[in-house]
Amino acid sequence: MKIPFESNESFAEKMDEQDSLKNFRERFYVPKQPNGKDVIYFTGNSLGLQPKTVRSYVEQELKDWETLGVEGHFKAKNPWLPYHEYLTAQMASIVGAKPIETVVMNSLTVNLHLMMVSFYRPTPERYKIVIEAGAFPSDQYAVGSQIKFHGFDVENSLIELKPRENETCLHIEDIEKTIEENGDSIALILLGGVNYYTGQKFDFQKITAIGHAHGAVVGFDLAHAAGNVELNLHDWNADFAAWCSYKYLNAGPGAIAGVFVHERHSESFDLPRFAGWWGHEKATRFLMGDKFVPIKGAEGWQLSNPPIFQLAALKASLDIFEEAGIKQLTEKSKKLTGYLEFLLGEIRDERISVITPTDETERGCQLSIRVRNADKNLFKQISDKGVIADWREPDVIRVAPVPLYNSFANVYKFVQILKDCLA
Ligand SMILES: Cc1ncc(COP(=O)(O)O)c(C=O)c1O
Repeated sequence: MKIPFESNESFAEKMDEQDSLKNFRERFYVPKQPNGKDVIYFTGNSLGLQPKTVRSYVEQELKDWETLGVEGHFKAKNPWLPYHEYLTAQMASIVGAKPIETVVMNSLTVNLHLMMVSFYRPTPERYKIVIEAGAFPSDQYAVGSQIKFHGFDVENSLIELKPRENETCLHIEDIEKTIEENGDSIALILLGGVNYYTGQKFDFQKITAIGHAHGAVVGFDLAHAAGNVELNLHDWNADFAAWCSYKYLNAGPGAIAGVFVHERHSESFDLPRFAGWWGHEKATRFLMGDKFVPIKGAEGWQLSNPPIFQLAALKASLDIFEEAGIKQLTEKSKKLTGYLEFLLGEIRDERISVITPTDETERGCQLSIRVRNADKNLFKQISDKGVIADWREPDVIRVAPVPLYNSFANVYKFVQILKDCLA
């Protein structure tokens, strides 16, 4: 339903009153400006805010370590030995997976590598990897180094999906065409579910189907998608995915990350994988045998015993997500970002334009605002007025009114500040 948005503060306030998720903002620490007022925090796509409960969740584990020492593995209030399992179902529901398909472990780039060890299996005929041109640098480095690791050269093996001339986002027909043209030689398609720069969300299901039809493995980097858009990885049939938890999932800087491996690979024990003792069958792990027997499902890709404080911080956030509901959050997100887009249009200043798709099914909460002639001064000015957004070279301000802790009034104020600075 199209909402008849209005460009005035009382409309924004009315929307906030009607917002069933409005009280979730109080669950987070919002940084302050020097004048003591809350900043307008539109960088949850970079680092989410701290849930107020994180401290008590971590303190519980500190306390159990203090009083129990090593016995905390079994006797802590939340025994550490199976601690990562307490997060599985919630994480699975955020990405639309079955619990057996999901595990929380390591960091994003590490996990991308671990996934590629198993799912990028190049042969002399089929060795290419498809990514987005201008993919996040870490993905480019990871993919490039995997190609080299297998003895191929990057120039001939990397296919970069480029937007049409004078455009910034990709068309599904163009993605399809590239896959068709290179079909037999593509080993892996690895796309960001939501592009970090443009905010474009891809059609996961279609891309997966096209990739599979041409014999390729299909994986996604969900750094900008997990906790931001509704995901259905199992039904979409993706082979694997990896994401971080410090952006929309609010688990703190460098937080422990997540991985999805489709159920159909849960017993693919013939796939090469890097192994570690935490991926070993639980019943016999402590017999300390020398033969690696992987756990069925995503857990079988774990290497080390996980950092409990990290898991505790993430658990605090996942509990909030479960309460709010990813469906309700994405519904609010569409309204909030739609309102931001509407108000930006009302400014009617040709120096700025939004490069994120206008179709709400093709984006999450982020809008990327292009600033003509790359005037970074504009970014500095809005920052000085209490907006935390981010600047991406050469000419883009990214803003993400994350629905868990942002209001329509925040969006309204942001646009007023931007308007004042443009004037
Ligand atoms: C799309 C994408 N891929 C990879 C990374 C790198 O993540 P990490 O440093 O956790 O490995 C990021 C970080 O922001 C990202 O946005």
